[in-house]
Amino acid sequence: MSALRVPTPWEAEAADWIAWARTAGHDVFAYYAPSFFTDIVPSPRGLTLEIGCGEGRVLRELTTRHHRAVGIDAAPTLLRAAVGADARPAHAVADAAALPFADATFGTVVAYNSLQTMAVFPDMARAVEEAARVLEPSGHLCVCVAHPMTDLGRMPPQAARAEGSAEWAYFERQRADGTVVKDGLTMTFHGWTYTLEDYARAIESAGMRIERLLEPRPSEEQVAARPGLSKWREMPLFLFVRAVKAEPGI
Ligand SMILES: C[S@@+](CC[C@H](N)C(=O)[O-])C[C@H]1O[C@@H](n2cnc3c(N)ncnc32)[C@H](O)[C@@H]1O
Repeated sequence: MSALRVPTPWEAEAADWIAWARTAGHDVFAYYAPSFFTDIVPSPRGLTLEIGCGEGRVLRELTTRHHRAVGIDAAPTLLRAAVGADARPAHAVADAAALPFADATFGTVVAYNSLQTMAVFPDMARAVEEAARVLEPSGHLCVCVAHPMTDLGRMPPQAARAEGSAEWAYFERQRADGTVVKDGLTMTFHGWTYTLEDYARAIESAGMRIERLLEPRPSEEQVAARPGLSKWREMPLFLFVRAVKAEPGI
């Protein structure tokens, strides 16, 4: 276990997150994750690390798909829940921005909705740099984050901004903390807004190249079955990115 440089606010939300993530049909995970695993995550190659694994649902899916998975999270309660649900992957309490692994240990690193949830703003880029360090050359970083448009969608109309009633601005560093109440469950999310360029620069600075970028949408059939998803056919909720680590000398 590595010492945590910055405690995560997610530890205080652990019970709510476990209920949110594990209540069948509640979260949108079921609508987006299948495309992430088929269109972004490559076939297993060596070890696969998930940074910010939470209660472990992505790790469980990776294991089902024959990845030799290792999960780390900064929230001890969430990590314990992940181990309790499936002890097959290796687990550790650790900081994604200071990984306790040697260089070139993993063939694939997955960050599913964790990069935008860091306690301090610079840790997104640090975590990407650490992911690149622990990846083998030509290994892949597979990312799902809240789409920067999602935060833009919360922006009030220009007239309201002109009157000084809101302070939202795309290029400013903003905390993205918010409480959502849905179907009897309450969840407080923590993190930061990042621009598209913030993510692209972090990947480039870490010596990786974006290989695929997707803006997934629920299908029309899914919207018909769950009308609440219709908004996410009009604007993106998530951004998927697969980046590849350069071979030495390239
Ligand atoms: C929205 S949850 C996603 C959990 C999981 N990937 C999933 O999709 O179910 C974000 C997770 O990132 C973790 N996290 C935030 N900052 C972290 C850091 N610096 N190091 C490791 N984990 C971190 C939180 O503790 C939380 O479990």
